[in-house]
Amino acid sequence: MAGPDARFNSKTTGYVFACWIIAAFGGLMFGYDIGISGGVSAMDDFLIKFFPQIHEKKLHAKEDNYCKYDDQMLQLFTSSLYLAALVASFGASKACTVLGRKPTILVASAFFLIGAGLSAGAQVKWMLILGRIFFGIGVGFGNEAVPVFLSEVAPVHQRGAVNILFQLFITIGILIANLVNYATSSMHPYGWRVSLGVAAVPAVVLFFGSLVITETPTSLVERGKDHVGKAALKKIRGVDDVDAEFEQIVDACEQAKLVKHPFRSLMKKQSMPPLIIGIMLQVFQQFTGINAIMFYAPVLFQTMGFKNDASLLSAVITGIVNVGSTFVSIIFVDKLGRRKLLLQACVQMLICQVAIGSILHVHLKATGSTLDKGLAAVVVVLVCLYVMSFAWSWGPLGWLIPSETFPLETRTAGFAFAVSTNMLFTFIIAQAFLSMLCHMKAFIFFFFSAWIFIMGMFVLFLLPETKGVHIDSMADKVWKQHPVWKKFMD
Ligand code: BGC
Repeated sequence: MAGPDARFNSKTTGYVFACWIIAAFGGLMFGYDIGISGGVSAMDDFLIKFFPQIHEKKLHAKEDNYCKYDDQMLQLFTSSLYLAALVASFGASKACTVLGRKPTILVASAFFLIGAGLSAGAQVKWMLILGRIFFGIGVGFGNEAVPVFLSEVAPVHQRGAVNILFQLFITIGILIANLVNYATSSMHPYGWRVSLGVAAVPAVVLFFGSLVITETPTSLVERGKDHVGKAALKKIRGVDDVDAEFEQIVDACEQAKLVKHPFRSLMKKQSMPPLIIGIMLQVFQQFTGINAIMFYAPVLFQTMGFKNDASLLSAVITGIVNVGSTFVSIIFVDKLGRRKLLLQACVQMLICQVAIGSILHVHLKATGSTLDKGLAAVVVVLVCLYVMSFAWSWGPLGWLIPSETFPLETRTAGFAFAVSTNMLFTFIIAQAFLSMLCHMKAFIFFFFSAWIFIMGMFVLFLLPETKGVHIDSMADKVWKQHPVWKKFMD
C-alpha cells in the first residue's frame, strides 16, 4: 500500500484553514436541510397552511403503529429538493470546470439564500415548492464543488481529514436543524417560517466567505492560469518549494486537455473503475438506511411509543452522536485508511439493524402495543451505535472517495454522477421510507441489513485503498495495481 508522498511539502497556514472551514459551510447548508424538513412537515401550523387535507388525516389517523405517517404528499415535501439537486449537479459540474470551484460555491450560496427567503416567506404552495427547488439547486452546486475543492486544496497526507470537514459540517447542520425545530415547534403560528429561514445564516457566511477563499491550483492551471496557480499553491501550502507538486498538477492538466468531452470520456473502459466505485458507494450509503433515521427519527421514535418531546429529544441525541463520531473519522481516515473504517462499520451497523429489527418484530405489534421503557431505551442505544458507525465510515467516505479517485479530466463530470446518484437514492428513501415502514413493518430493518452485507462484500473485494496517494496519480498507483480494476486500465 502506498504511503504519503514525501516530495510534497506543506504547512497548515491560518489562511488555508479558513478556506477549509468556509467551504465546509456548503456541507452545513446541506445538513441543515436534511434535518429541518422532517420536523417542519410535522408542525400543525405548517400543515394547516399548505396541506390541510393531511392535517385533517393526521387528526383522524388510524392507530396503526407502523402506518401513522404514511403520506406521499408529505414525503414529497421532504424529497422534492433532492430531485432539483440531482439535475443541478450536472450543470454544477460544467460550472466547476469552466468557471472554477470557487465561483461554483458562490453560486450555490446564492441559490440557497433565495431558497431560504422564498420558503420562509411562502404564502402559497407554489412559493414553498419554488423555495425547495432553489434550495435543491444550491445543494446540487454545493455538493459538487465543495468536496472537490477540499480534496484539491488539501495536502496529500491530510486529504481524508480535510475532505471530511464537509461531512462534519453536514452533521453539524443536521444537529442545528434538530435544535431549531425543537425551539420553533412551540412558536405559533410562525415557527416553521423561522425554521426554514434560519438556513439563510450559513448561506450568508458561505456567500461572503466564498469571495475570500482561494481558487484551487488545479482549477487555475486547468484554465490556463499557470502562474496564478503556482502562487495559489505556495499560498495554501505555506512553503516556497512546491515544484514537485506543481509539476504533478501541470501533468494532470496536460492529460486533461486531451479530453474534449469529459462525459463521453467517462463512458470509456478506463473510466469504469472510479465511476463504478463512485456510483456504488453512493447507492450503498443511502441503503445503509441512514436517512430513515435522519429524516424521520422523531417519527420512528413515536412509532415505538415515545411521546412527542421524548421523540424530539432522542432525535437530538442521535444528532449529537452523529457529530461526535465524525471526529473519529477525521482522526483515523489518513492513518487506518478508508477500507478498514468501512468494513468495521458494516459489522457494527449490521449487528445494530438486526437487533433493532428483532426487538421490534417481537415486541411491537401494529396495533395495541408500545415498547416498554427498558426496551425502548435499548433501541435508542442501538440507533446511536448504528449512527456512530455510519458517521465514521459510509457518511464521510461516500463523499471523500469519489472526489479523490477520478483523474482530473473526468473529475468534475465523474463526481457529478456520484452526487446525482446520492440525490436520487436520498430521494427514493425519503419518498418511500414511511410507506416501506407501513408495509414491511420491522422487516424494513432486515432489508437494510441485507444491503449492509452486500456493501461489505463490495468493499472487501472491489474497493482499493487510496490513503496517502496523490489525487493526481490514482491511475498508476491505485487502479493499475488492483487485481480486478487493472483489467480496465490498459
Ligand atoms: C449523507 C446524508 C446523510 C448524512 C447523515 C451524509 O453523508 O449523504 O444523506 O443524511 O450523511 O449525517
